[in-house]
Amino acid sequence: MKPGILVTRAMFPEVLERLRETFDVIDNQADIEYPPEALAERLQGRVGLLSNAADTINAELISRVPTLRAVCNMAVGYNNFDLAAMTRAGILATNTPDILTETTADFGWALLMAAARRVSESERWLRSGQWKRWTYDMFLGAEVYGSTLGILGMGRIGQALARRASGFSMRVIYHNRSRLSPEVEQDTRATYVSKEDLLKEADHLVLVLPYSKESHHAIGAAELAQMKPTATLVNLARGGIVDDAALAQALADKRIFAAGLDVYEGEPKVHPALLDAEHVALTPHIASATLGTRLGMANLAADNLIAALGFGPRAGQPPNLLNPDALTQRASS
Ligand code: GLV
Repeated sequence: MKPGILVTRAMFPEVLERLRETFDVIDNQADIEYPPEALAERLQGRVGLLSNAADTINAELISRVPTLRAVCNMAVGYNNFDLAAMTRAGILATNTPDILTETTADFGWALLMAAARRVSESERWLRSGQWKRWTYDMFLGAEVYGSTLGILGMGRIGQALARRASGFSMRVIYHNRSRLSPEVEQDTRATYVSKEDLLKEADHLVLVLPYSKESHHAIGAAELAQMKPTATLVNLARGGIVDDAALAQALADKRIFAAGLDVYEGEPKVHPALLDAEHVALTPHIASATLGTRLGMANLAADNLIAALGFGPRAGQPPNLLNPDALTQRASS
């Protein structure tokens, strides 16, 4: 009998077919939402889960599904995992890094440009029939060429964003938990600065740091107050890194110029004041959404699940294992 797995959300049919070669698969092509209770019920007796960044994998779920051996996120972020609890239970956890880096960096630029140059806002205005004549001061935006790009969180995506900045002759400054090597700083033409200097000096500040308790509200009222009134803020990372209410207030008070947001606190709900705000470009968490990248992410999550559950050429060694200690834990239990 094939081992049982659950795929929590609708999925590329070809990836489901691949998984079915090895597993007995419960899919969710109707894309029904599983609250925690329903997720635990659907998982009964299953050994693997191909999860989405919105599925909470915590000690409670683990205690209700003692058969679970591997959870593989189709996302680079994994703040939905309680990694310590998973490791204690010998459950392998994986994500999908690298494959989405360039696509996500492209989208960071799309949002930055859309917010700074007021693309979404002017399109809304045009579509609502308000364009009667051209005027010299219509939708004046912020300069991009030759300005200063600030990046908070200089991992793979931050570095890919920085590399693109040389085409706009921008100065690039960054802040990160740890400073990059001189080689990477040279390659990305990025200069390390304190968080305070990053906030003060960036004309366009892009957030690409992982969400954790430590990064919760990394950008709140105090940080927004330090930014230039002409600055653009782009959140490409996770909801909760920005205090969305404080951001809406800062935009209303013209404390900063514009915002481009792909992620939100409590998404898919969006703070109503952001929905009403001008100088804002809003997208529904689509930074990695190209066909090639999403298919690549799905296949990588499947590769991880196949290997994590002991099949295929990398049996027992999934390519993107986040908690190698779970292997030791598993061996000793
Ligand atoms: C998307 O948000 C991801 O983490 O891949």
